Order: sequence, then structure tokens, then C-alpha cells
Amino acid sequence: MSTVEPVTEHQAPVSAHREDFPILARPMNGRPLAFLDSAASAQKPACVIDAEARCYREYYANIHRGVYQLSQRSTDAYEGARKRVAELLNAPDHREVAFVRGTTEAINLVAHSFVRPQLQPGDEILITGMEHHSNIVPWQLICEETGAKLVVSPVTDTGEVDLEDFRGRLGPRTRFASIAHVSNALGTINPVAEMIAAAREADVPTLVDGAQGVPHMAVDVQALGCDFYCFSGHKLYGPSGVGALWGRFELLRGMRPYQGGGEMIRYVTFEKSDFAPPPQRFEAGTPNIAGAIALGEAVDYVRGIGLERIGAHEQALLAYATERLEAIEGLRIIGNATHKAGVISFVLDGVHPHDIGTILDQEGVAVRAGHHCAQPVMDRFGVPATVRASFGLYNSREDVDALVNALHRVKEFFG
Ligand code: ALA
Repeated sequence: MSTVEPVTEHQAPVSAHREDFPILARPMNGRPLAFLDSAASAQKPACVIDAEARCYREYYANIHRGVYQLSQRSTDAYEGARKRVAELLNAPDHREVAFVRGTTEAINLVAHSFVRPQLQPGDEILITGMEHHSNIVPWQLICEETGAKLVVSPVTDTGEVDLEDFRGRLGPRTRFASIAHVSNALGTINPVAEMIAAAREADVPTLVDGAQGVPHMAVDVQALGCDFYCFSGHKLYGPSGVGALWGRFELLRGMRPYQGGGEMIRYVTFEKSDFAPPPQRFEAGTPNIAGAIALGEAVDYVRGIGLERIGAHEQALLAYATERLEAIEGLRIIGNATHKAGVISFVLDGVHPHDIGTILDQEGVAVRAGHHCAQPVMDRFGVPATVRASFGLYNSREDVDALVNALHRVKEFFG
């Protein structure tokens, strides 16, 4: 269902959509802003900003609660956004999509409501060596509580998963596997379909952390065959503080709530509460109503441009940037997987990444410098931190050129 508009000769290049993003028209230190930190959080197009403002200005009220028109309109818009997210992921049923705060909350929800109740001492949870902290720490917490063990399939020298190793670690005690679609620190696109198939053969349910996947490619959860998939709105040109968890309905239906409160119940007495069916069971309290509606708008926006086109545009930029960065003496790219999304991590001999980031900022180039919430990846490659340039649909070769020129300034400065 992830329909993509056919590319016609009249279609503007993807990067022409830079004009849709008001913030990108603002200069940075007197220069055009080269925003290369979309992996941390993407900028927002005017239509998303307007959708959120329109909700508050024109029809805001709490959802699912009021019989008056405003509440009904808000409810319709919120539930409409859920349907858009379901379509984005090609989910068979929109009731399989729960709105959450973001990827982190989604993983914690699955850890506590699905995995933890099944764990016995000695059971295992399998992840890879390139996970973000949000796909490590929630599992460590439930392992500590239950006596289960976190098993890690290590990363190769090129920054890839070794499929044979991953398969070999799926054993009789493996209760769950949780894997990144795309590494935020290395850019590696993991062979998630193969990994999920291996897990299914071993009867192990899977979650895919799609935080860095959804913004760069069309995702089809039915084709992938995973049991849970999650992502954050703010990396998909939507608002922060809202994201989505997709899960198979038969699994969601059997799960305990993650949080208790209003709207997630069918009936409450002081003796016992009866829970609402999914997805309301997982949406306790008043949610980020306007945020979810604006996320629905972001979904329409990227689908309107076409996720395949966005992905192809970013691949071209990645190839160009890789070639230009590799030509800089003393620069080493960390993560050389065959399949990468628009993320390049690198270090430069003799200069700390934070110093690089500060000088780049003076040149109007925004990158992330640090461990990228993936400290085990830094340890694996023997570096304390990297500089990370990451691309969004609005980036162009000019942004890459600005990065390269600014890196030459860094080299001049540090002699
Ligand atoms: N997870 C985000 C990043 O990779 C914040 O920068």
C-alpha cells in the first residue's frame, strides 16, 4: 500500500522541497544553513507546523470523551492519523497501531508488556552490537529483574551484522530478538527480513527499531514478517513527543497494559479493572493529540513526495559525500557497510569530534558530534566519539560541499 508517485520529467528534484521547510531559509552565522543532523531530529515542513497549529486554533478538544462537535472532530483527525500510519507501514489493521511518545517508549512498552512476563532466569534476549541505547537499556532492565540474559551478535569490521553469527545465537532459550532497521551511528541498513526469517524459524518473536528506517525507505511490516515495528515522529519530519508502535493484533490483544489510567479501560471498580482492547489499552491518559494529527500530515507529506524517491535521493548524496570525504587526508569513515542509509560517521586525525562540530557550526554546518547514544558502537571501533553527518530529503550537494569546505577550515585551524 506504500504507493509512490511515478517519477515524471516534470517533477522537481527531491531537494527542491527544501523550500517547504521555513527554518532552512534562516541563515546560520551569515551562511545558508547546511542542516546535516536529520538522524537526530528532522526539520519540519510548513504543512506539518500548520497542521498542529490548525488543530489548536480550529478544532482542539480532548478525544474519545466529548459528545460535542469539537471533540468529535479532534477524535476523527486523531484516528485518521492512526490510519495514515497504518498505511505507511502497510499494517493490515489500523487497530494494530498505538501512538506512543516515540521509539524509546515503544521499546519499553514491548519489553514490559510482552517480553518481561514470559521471562525466566536463564532466558535470553538477542540484539545486535550496533543498537542505540534505547534498544539496549530496556532489555538490560528486564534482564536484571528476571535473571534473563542479554545476548549480543557483534558488529563486523565494516559495521555489519554477521547473519551466520546472528542465526547461531538464536537458541532454545531465546525469547525475543530486537534489532535496528538502520544503525543511527554507522548508517548500516540491516538485512532485517533475513534476520526476522531466522528468528521465526527458531520461533522467536521480533521487534524492529525503525527510528532510522522509516524516514529513508518504504516499510512494509507484512513483507518484513516482524511482530513489532516502531518509529518516532520527529525523525519523519513530524513533531517530537509522538511516535508509533505497530504490533500484530493477536499479540497486542494478549498483552498487559504498560501504564494504567484513563481511556485504557473498559470498566473500573476498586476491586478490578477491565482493559480496553488495543490500541486504546496502550494509550493511557490524554495523548499528544495535535502531535499525532501533525504526524499524520508528515506521513502524507513524505508519501506525497515518495519514499522511494527520497531514499534514492539520499543514496546519491551518500555516494557523493563518501567520495568527497574519503579524499580528505586524515579522515576515516566509521562504518563501511555495503548497504547504508544517508548517515556518515567519521573521525579526523588529531581533532576531537566536539571541536570539529563547533567549527562546522561557525561555518553554518550542523552535524552531531558525540557517541550518538550508541556507546558500544564507539567501543567496538575504538573511538570515544565521531562526527556524524546525516541527510534528509532537503539536503543537496551544496550541503555536502559546505561540509567538506568547513572540514578544510578545521584542518587549517588545527594545522
Ligand atoms: N537517536 C538520535 C540520534 O541518533 C537522537 O541522534
